[in-house]
Amino acid sequence: MKKLSARRRHPLAAVVVLLLALAATGGLYAAFAPAGKAQADETAQSLAIDEGKKLYSVGCASCHGSGGQGTTDGPSLVGVGSAAVDFQVGTGRMPAQQPGAQVPKKKVIYNQAEIDQLAAYVASLGAGPITPTKSQVDPSGADVAKGGDLFRTNCAQCHNFTGEGGALTNGKYAPSLEGVSPKHIYEAMQTGPQSMPSFPDSTMPEQEKKDIIAYIKTVNGDESQTPGGLSLGGLGPVSEGLFGWIFGLGGLIAIAVWVAAHTAKAKKS
Ligand code: HEC
Ligand code: HEC
Repeated sequence: MKKLSARRRHPLAAVVVLLLALAATGGLYAAFAPAGKAQADETAQSLAIDEGKKLYSVGCASCHGSGGQGTTDGPSLVGVGSAAVDFQVGTGRMPAQQPGAQVPKKKVIYNQAEIDQLAAYVASLGAGPITPTKSQVDPSGADVAKGGDLFRTNCAQCHNFTGEGGALTNGKYAPSLEGVSPKHIYEAMQTGPQSMPSFPDSTMPEQEKKDIIAYIKTVNGDESQTPGGLSLGGLGPVSEGLFGWIFGLGGLIAIAVWVAAHTAKAKKS
């Protein structure tokens, strides 16, 4: 009998032991982690570069050279930065397939982790524009009206007033910006792919890029960004003018007819 009761533990004993153990490991982790973290980051970074180099040798070196120095089939990637890789591979432009006036978008064949590794490798060849963070590209709270002004002065000559794109010379074209993610819009501005000029932070600061992204998302009918109201198809001043003309003028005529009818009646009676 005595033996049994000695072995009978309080039902919460196991829980208490578990909590103590957790607290102890947590404490140990807290004590040792900060010192080890920077080092762990560095190791992760060099691992990513190694993995990226392997992917690069298989998929990119034939055109861009074994060390990214470029060949007759592709430009040097030294100094293009992680943002250029994230844009080119993330939109399916790279790896390029056949030569043409402009490398088109295709199905993306690498996953984001692999793209990050490729980007880490290319960035290790020479400093260049860095892939933006989530908060850098988040357009919430940005100034849509200012973004519209900036878009009309810097982008509309090629991409059209609401970003639906347009043809350029020699078989080149500025693509439609509908459905392009904020990150890729940001990176296109940072790196200036093919015949597009680049808009580095020195000439176009982060906030202006955000304003432009907010404008593009608004005119393309992104629900979360539209301030409300009817979009009128987003076709710009012509359709909006026409809408104003037909409904505005129609309304005025209707009112004039109504007023005339009533004054006529008032005179008669
Ligand atoms: C068939 C040849 C070919 C292959 C394969 C290829 N590229 Fe390219 N790449 C090109 C050409 C040509 C250009 C220049 C045209 C352009 O700017 O899009 C280019 C441009 C780029 C640019 C833009 C450079 C700049 O100045 O902004 C990046 C970044 C890039 N490639 C990365 C890659 C990566 C990463 C891979 C492998 C996943 C790859 N490419 C595979 C031919 C190739
Ligand atoms: C001189 C003409 C020109 C101007 C000005 C220009 N672009 Fe472009 N843009 C292009 C061309 C050409 C491409 C296609 C490049 C490619 O396929 O590599 C492009 C591609 C893009 C893309 C990639 C779209 C996609 O489908 O992946 C985005 C985003 C973009 N431009 C945004 C802008 C913004 C924002 C501005 C203004 C700040 C701007 N562009 C100004 C010509 C231009």
